[in-house]
Parts: sequence; structure tokens; C-alpha cells
Amino acid sequence: MEVTNRVEPGTNVVIVKNLYVSIDPYQVNRMKSFSSSQSATKNAVGVNPGEGIDAHGVGKVVASGNTEFEKGDLIVGLISWGDYTVVKPGVLLRKFDPLGLPLSYQVGILGFSGLTAYAGLFDICKPKKGEKVFVSAASGSVGNLVGQYAKLFGCYVVGSAGNNEKVALLKEKLGFDDAFNYKEETDLKATLKRYFPDGIDIYFDNVGAEMLDAAVANMKAFGRVAACGVISEYTDVRKRAAPNMLDVVYKRIKIEGFLVVDYMNVYQDFLRTTCDHLRNGEIQALEDISNGVESIPSAFAGLFCGDNIGKKIVQIAQE
Ligand SMILES: NC(=O)c1ccc[n+]([C@@H]2O[C@H](COP(=O)([O-])OP(=O)(O)OC[C@H]3O[C@@H](n4cnc5c(N)ncnc54)[C@H](OP(=O)(O)O)[C@@H]3O)[C@@H](O)[C@H]2O)c1
Repeated sequence: MEVTNRVEPGTNVVIVKNLYVSIDPYQVNRMKSFSSSQSATKNAVGVNPGEGIDAHGVGKVVASGNTEFEKGDLIVGLISWGDYTVVKPGVLLRKFDPLGLPLSYQVGILGFSGLTAYAGLFDICKPKKGEKVFVSAASGSVGNLVGQYAKLFGCYVVGSAGNNEKVALLKEKLGFDDAFNYKEETDLKATLKRYFPDGIDIYFDNVGAEMLDAAVANMKAFGRVAACGVISEYTDVRKRAAPNMLDVVYKRIKIEGFLVVDYMNVYQDFLRTTCDHLRNGEIQALEDISNGVESIPSAFAGLFCGDNIGKKIVQIAQE
């Protein structure tokens, strides 16, 4: 692609060379001919065949008609799945200081994945020390951080993941108290009873469907469920959760959906805390990086097969 290094002055347009782009499950709902998510928030509007796909990412300004940015600035914001982005006025974009950390962290642990884990755990679930936490898709981008934050806070944490390599990683490298391969289990209610004989205080739900049903059946009274995502439903509408509402009522369980974009007010607190943990070696950044724009389709499809371990990112170019 040939890119001009000039933009018309006063247009406020910024041309960005894309360096890292985020690969996220929710994009599949934007690609459907219909999904109720598309009208719920402007961040999830539908994309039509032939249109570019905007995504969170890191880039470098190559030309700017906006006085806030100049050539060479590192930016983070809404760029596109491609080599370059023409960023129009009003689109979320900001300069950032890498703080001596890898640029890719802005897309994962210090980006929306990290903020989702942080806000979902601390604002929605309000953990207390010693509480029992269960997290699904626990080796994924959000899930691994939920578990690591919860452990640092003093909770007991069990994660589920889709293969034994992921289970070993959770227990041996990320400090989870326990973990299991949900694909080897035939009765998830009984499985969770085995891992939480006294019940679950907090369930951080990334998957929905029968895992949510099983978690609700095993919640303690006054348990909290953060409904973060329902990835099992994204590719199969028949996989809709049907939790026992008698349990919800009589055990006074709070199930709360949330979107990370509503939690920008905790961003600075999240950033400070997470950078401190990183510098002290208390938290690990789990990244899964593919290279080249041509790897975006397989990276994206791989999310729904469990190919990724940690945050899925595509590196488009070197800085
Ligand atoms: N509420 C928000 O603001 C917000 C923000 C970010 C993400 N999310 C949601 O959070 C969830 C996790 O997102 P992420 O970015 O961290 O992705 P991720 O967990 O890094 O990647 C997706 C993982 O989900 C698991 N998975 C795929 N298909 C599945 C299925 N049918 N049933 C069960 N598990 C399946 C796979 O792991 P296994 O090998 O373990 O199956 C896969 O690796 C998603 O539901 C996403 O939409 C919500």
C-alpha cells in the first residue's frame, strides 16, 4: 500500500502506521447479519462485507493534519486490521508513554483486556480476602489476569481451560490454586462441586452456556457473577445459558453484565497498580503474538478454537 506522508492541513486527519492490533472475540458479533449487541453500544456496531474493521491497537503517526499529533508519535487507540489507518477526527486516539515496557502491552495487559479483568473483578465482584473465585477461559487474555489479580488480592482461585497445556500453565506458572480441562468433564455441576465443595463466592464468566448454569448451581449465598462474555454463544446461538432462577433468588446471587468502556474512570488506578505489579514481578503478561497482516484471519478464527494462550495480538510492523 502506498501511503502519502502529507494530509491536507486543517482536516484533522492522522495517518498511522499500524504496529500491533488487538484480536478480540466480540468482533465476530459485529460481522453477523444480525446480533442484538450491534445496537446496544456504538463500540459494537455491525461491519459489512468489504468494510474495514476497526480495532484497538498501537501505531506510529506518519502524517498529521491534527495539531495534537506529529509525525513519529506513538499512539494507542482505534486503528484498523490493516497496514495503515486513516484516523478521522473524533476517533479515539491518544499518545502514550511506553513506560519502558513492550509496546504490545498497550493492547493486552495495559489495554482493554487488563482493564476488563481489573474492573470486572474489583468493581463488579467486590472480592474479599479468602473468597473462592472461579474463572472460565482462564488462560485467555482477560481470564488469566482475573486469576492473577484475584490471587494477589488474597483469594482462592480455580480456572477452567480447554486443554491440559493451558491447565498446567495456570497452576505452575500463573499461581492458580487449581485448574481443570472442561473438555474432559462430562458433568460440569459435579466438576465444580469437586473443586468448590463449600461453594463459589465469585464467578467471572467469559463463556456463558452450561458453565454459567453449573457455576450458579454451585454459588454460595450472596455470590457474585461478572457476566463478561459469552463466547460459547458467539458461534452457536443454541448454547444459551439457562441458570436455575430459584438458585439466583434464594441464594441472592448477583449476576451483572458489564462493558469495559464504562470503566475509564478506573483506568489510571488500574494502570498504576498493574505497572507496579509488573515491575515487582508479581504479575505476568501472557501474550500470543502472530506476525504480519496476513495472519489476522487465522489469528481471529483461532480464538474460537482455543488456539491462543493469553492475549492474541498481531504484530503488523516493527517500530
Ligand atoms: N465485557 C467486556 O467489556 C469484555 C471485554 C473484553 C472481552 N470480553 C469477553 O471476555 C471473554 C474473553 O475474551 P478474551 O479477549 O480474553 O479472549 P480469550 O479468552 O483470550 O480467547 C478466547 C478463548 O475462549 C475459549 N473459547 C473459545 N470458544 C469457546 C467455547 N465455545 N466455549 C468455551 N470457551 C471457548 C478458548 O479457550 P479454551 O481453550 O479455554 O476453550 C479461547 O482461547 C469473551 O467472551 C469476550 O467477548 C468482554
